[in-house]
Amino acid sequence: MLLRNLRLIEGLLTLRDFAARRQQLLDRMHPGSIALVPGATQQRRNRDIYFPFRQDSDFYYLTGFCEPDALLVLMPGRAQGETVIFCRERDAVAERRDGPILGPEAGPAALAVNDSFPISDVADILPGLLEGRTQIYMNLGEHLLWDSRLVAYLDELAQQRGSGEAEVGKIVALGHLLHEQRLIKSAKEQQLMRRAAHISVAAQYRVLEKLRPGLSEAALEAELIYSYRAHGAKAEAYPSIVAAGNNACTLHYSKNESVLLDGDLVLIDAGCEFEYYAADVTRTYPISGCFSDAQRCLYDIVLAANRAAIAQCAANSHFNAPHEAATTVLVKGLLKLGLLEGELEEIIAAGSHEQFCPHKTSHWLGLDVHDVGDYRLAGAWRDLLPGMVLTVEPGIYIPRDETTEHIADCYRGIGIRIEDAVLITQQGCEVLTQDLVKDADAIEVQLAENFRQHGPQAAIHTGSA
Ligand code: GLY
Ligand code: MN
Ligand code: MN
Repeated sequence: MLLRNLRLIEGLLTLRDFAARRQQLLDRMHPGSIALVPGATQQRRNRDIYFPFRQDSDFYYLTGFCEPDALLVLMPGRAQGETVIFCRERDAVAERRDGPILGPEAGPAALAVNDSFPISDVADILPGLLEGRTQIYMNLGEHLLWDSRLVAYLDELAQQRGSGEAEVGKIVALGHLLHEQRLIKSAKEQQLMRRAAHISVAAQYRVLEKLRPGLSEAALEAELIYSYRAHGAKAEAYPSIVAAGNNACTLHYSKNESVLLDGDLVLIDAGCEFEYYAADVTRTYPISGCFSDAQRCLYDIVLAANRAAIAQCAANSHFNAPHEAATTVLVKGLLKLGLLEGELEEIIAAGSHEQFCPHKTSHWLGLDVHDVGDYRLAGAWRDLLPGMVLTVEPGIYIPRDETTEHIADCYRGIGIRIEDAVLITQQGCEVLTQDLVKDADAIEVQLAENFRQHGPQAAIHTGSA
């Protein structure tokens, strides 16, 4: 049913979009400064096998260029050109093995930059570009190779001057300028994120169709990945969490190797990456098709918290307002069930609810699943603005362990999280994942319908039957 939502994208990002992003950053940089933005390198998995390459998000945001071993240099006001890219040279043997390499000759036209040089020449060229610049913007600590290269180039410049000091300004973190820019999503970015959300929602519906007791968590994980790839998303935005029963109490569980037991819940926190933009969505389903009374009580508290938090997602709100609203609902619900004791405000002030609700409700979402951007400005929670995208993901977790021996058995071994991706708009907000069922009755109806259509047997061959 979700396929109708996988509508055509109204336009992928173009060279002009990436150039406009660079211009926006150049306009905000200090006059006479320089910014260094390294791309990612390939990461070795074992022996001569590499992990699938994923470009660095900052570098991708500014270039759209997806080859390893590149460096973007921005120099506002430089007469010979403000934008330079260093990249790999073409290599017939490597290209025959791994596919085409752009090469510096094609760089200016293909990437709309002023100049492009071989990355192998960076040690000869970059010190000259650094010399005399008033400030160097770079995110130190993220690309250790480039940190040490920068220190070596500055040292070299200092030796040349003979004064022991290079004639360049201080090194400043690029993050603040660039990440403020990334925090507000353009109309095209919003469209890509909508698509990432819709593909992720379709994958959850596929899982709902297949869900049966006796399957493995891994089988559901495979269905998610199949569905992403079939709908045009290249990868998961993060390792899928398919956590049955007590496993759901491990917040970032990703072993996904247990069997789904009748009577347990399964928590599925999974999102695809579409054109580099992440989705992040969680639902929690009853494996048998029906919630037990205790599961349902806890589920309805989390759902009410999710809804209360979404009601706070608007441009006149601040970042922490959804979390405050969710926490109040969670604590009230746990008090009513007798799982917490005391006064609402005192519990929240002391943080004693964190034994069951240990994480915050929201984070930014974008090119990175836990996306960049400050949450506070000058110490205060920042205002939400149109174009920001955040998650809303309250949860209750009652592990079956020595910390919960005093709790009624029906509540133990349960982890419930309900997570949506939310875009702040001029009018309020748009829940990007709104098409995914989350009301408990509606989930039971959906599962009953799927069982009726596809039969009670495990819909995926597990190899054991
Ligand atoms: N999937 C990770 C998170 O929800 O933050
Ligand atoms: Mn999240
Ligand atoms: Mn998540």
